[in-house]
Amino acid sequence: MPAVSDEARAVLALATRLAREAGAIQRDRYETGFAVATKSSSIDLVTEVDRACEEHIVTALRRERPGDAVLAEEGSQHGGAAAPWRWIIDPLDGTVNYAHGYPCFCVSIGIERDGARAVGVVYDPLRDELFEAVRGSGARRNGRPIAVSSEPALGRALLATGFAYDVHDAERDNLDLLARAVKRAGGVRRDGSAALDLCYVACGRFDGFWELKLHAWDVAAGILIVEEAGGSVTDLAGGPPPASGREIAASNGRIHQAMLAALAGR
Ligand code: IPD
Ligand code: CA
Ligand code: CA
Repeated sequence: MPAVSDEARAVLALATRLAREAGAIQRDRYETGFAVATKSSSIDLVTEVDRACEEHIVTALRRERPGDAVLAEEGSQHGGAAAPWRWIIDPLDGTVNYAHGYPCFCVSIGIERDGARAVGVVYDPLRDELFEAVRGSGARRNGRPIAVSSEPALGRALLATGFAYDVHDAERDNLDLLARAVKRAGGVRRDGSAALDLCYVACGRFDGFWELKLHAWDVAAGILIVEEAGGSVTDLAGGPPPASGREIAASNGRIHQAMLAALAGR
């Protein structure tokens, strides 16, 4: 792993350990009788397990790196802009899948150093797959280097997308983009975990992915993992991807412009 500081290495080691520990909680409680509640809409779910995973990770961070800032999906937030390191955590990405016993979910932990993406870890506990990247040192799955696909043709490309929890009511619902993609790509999947979708672009299982209205915790790790695997990540106009996750297009690079054009209806 070239050009990685001792501190980045320590952050990666801790993120990896915590992602595996939270993943073990998910695995242990998968298909058991956990409580499920709703958040922003009737289809936006949160389970006891989301909260238990967040509690586990955030408690450990407070103990082991008290000077770091934290932003986590289920409400944990501490530390200010002065903290050099910030942890952006989705304790369980794929909650709807988890609640239904559909085996596609993960823990996602992205860490910024001085506001720039520095370390990303995504752990899928059922497949025991750990994706990770450190800025400047490539991306790996279970310790082995990964790379995006080499598919040059959108017409053969396998894409993925997803829908926000306001899809029943919102005008900007991604369905027009989905229709265009279905007509132009080799195939389109909706698997329900944006963090895993990004990792699947990084390791060549998907050739591209786009989504609207994600959040920082959905993409903080995955953007870095795709970039370090040699892929391209932008907004839908081809500019830098917003850290907020507001819109994102990720690909192997080779199909990127064709994918953006197709999604825009050009
Ligand atoms: C969701 C998943 C899903 C995406 C949604 C996200 P959650 O996150 O990543 O794939 O389509 O937009 O909100 O709620 O399972 O952590
Ligand atoms: Ca998520
Ligand atoms: Ca989540």
